[in-house]
Amino acid sequence: QQYDFGMIGLGVMGRNFILNVLDHGFSAAGLDLNHEQVEALKQEAEGKTVLSTSDTAEFVKALSTPRKIMLLVPAGKAVDTVIGSLLPYLQEGDLIIDGGNTFFTDTDRRFNSLKEKGIRFMGMGVSGGAEGARRGPSIMPGGDPEAYDIVAPILEAVAAKAKGEPCVAHLGNGGAGHYVKMVHNGIEYGLMQLLAEAYDILKHGAELSNEALAETFEAWNNGALESFLVEITAAIFRQPDALSQGSLIDSILDKAKQKGTGKWTSQNAMDLGIPVPTIDAAVTMRGLSALKADRANTAPKYSRSIEQLPLLDKEALINQMGEALHFAFLMTYAQGMHLLHEASSAYQFGLNPETIAKIWRGGCIIRAEILEDMRQAYQQEPSLANLVNSEIFRSPLLYGQRAVREVLSAAHQLGRPMLAMASTLHYFDAIRAERLPLNLVQAQRDYFGSHTYERTDREGSFHTEWGA
Ligand code: 6PG
Repeated sequence: QQYDFGMIGLGVMGRNFILNVLDHGFSAAGLDLNHEQVEALKQEAEGKTVLSTSDTAEFVKALSTPRKIMLLVPAGKAVDTVIGSLLPYLQEGDLIIDGGNTFFTDTDRRFNSLKEKGIRFMGMGVSGGAEGARRGPSIMPGGDPEAYDIVAPILEAVAAKAKGEPCVAHLGNGGAGHYVKMVHNGIEYGLMQLLAEAYDILKHGAELSNEALAETFEAWNNGALESFLVEITAAIFRQPDALSQGSLIDSILDKAKQKGTGKWTSQNAMDLGIPVPTIDAAVTMRGLSALKADRANTAPKYSRSIEQLPLLDKEALINQMGEALHFAFLMTYAQGMHLLHEASSAYQFGLNPETIAKIWRGGCIIRAEILEDMRQAYQQEPSLANLVNSEIFRSPLLYGQRAVREVLSAAHQLGRPMLAMASTLHYFDAIRAERLPLNLVQAQRDYFGSHTYERTDREGSFHTEWGA
């Protein structure tokens, strides 16, 4: 028996991905050094054409050539270790696919070093968590188009489908797949933080119970905000907790962890000079959430005297929050896509924004109705740098910004942070401002450092002996 597809790393994601491959009529082999995982796959895939082993030689020899071997192991050193352990058994033309959240420059490095050995390598983002891997993820491959072709039939079969089309496509050169997945995660951070802020203001400003919050988010999910994250947020508010006998959400510690992809998005955006302030704010808020002890220490020193403010109009606040979220979601995608636009030329990825919007419509964590509008915007104008300039976005943005100002003023009255929402609005106000006050910054630079400045009324660089 020769198997069509190999998977290394039989954690829940890896096993689910294999089960998905098997569901579509392919045979598959799985490899993991952990015997419990090997046994788990054997049990879950009982009766199917599957090999589950911890023997690398047996695994590689069992695969039909050119071999298609996907890795779902933690990003970093583990990927190099696994590749090293495979190399003695591989032959020219075999394909290794890294499906983890790897930093794109690591992918480029591995691609180049494997190419010298005649081994194909593809960096591939996979989104949708364990459920996505099992039922259909969104898949973001990059690298050589010929390498993609080898594995395309399998990936297209297992990927989520949106409007009948598989949520996978060859996205671009080198580390393009992992880069797109990184930005996907940056957007994911932004949307999650915006939802957390909306929850906070509705809970404290409109005193919504968990039940009322669930209903509100469900109603939003039936409208323009329809998305996976809004849907699961509604479900979270309904989750009971046996231990506390209350809602589980109320017993969860307010410290959010992170594995780095959101931070990488912000860091790389800074490197490329593209502002993504909503994502920056989301990363910053994860940092602030982690400073639990500091917050507990500082809180009593500044306890809120503002809580006696008049109660806000509940219905109005709920409606404004929905509109504000719609605005902020659009602007978060716009920032991420702007970054992709710039990265595509800076790193010669050759990305097509419409394709990206298309494959994000299903399977992934940031899937949302909005993505269909985005796809149309790019179909109309493929070279659009920033969605803020698309005709499709114009009227929802003009409309939504008013609601953002209202919810932010509620947040200010309550003294509760809405860093992502505020950053989103200020970004919008900045990108639509023909004139910003940075003429002053430029004057200051010239004042203390003779850095020179340009003028609005004539060409050239100027320097002034300030105060002279
Ligand atoms: C996905 C997710 C996933 C990511 C988690 C956790 O698309 O399925 O992005 O890949 O690992 O969301 O990310 P953090 O631990 O950084 O929050």
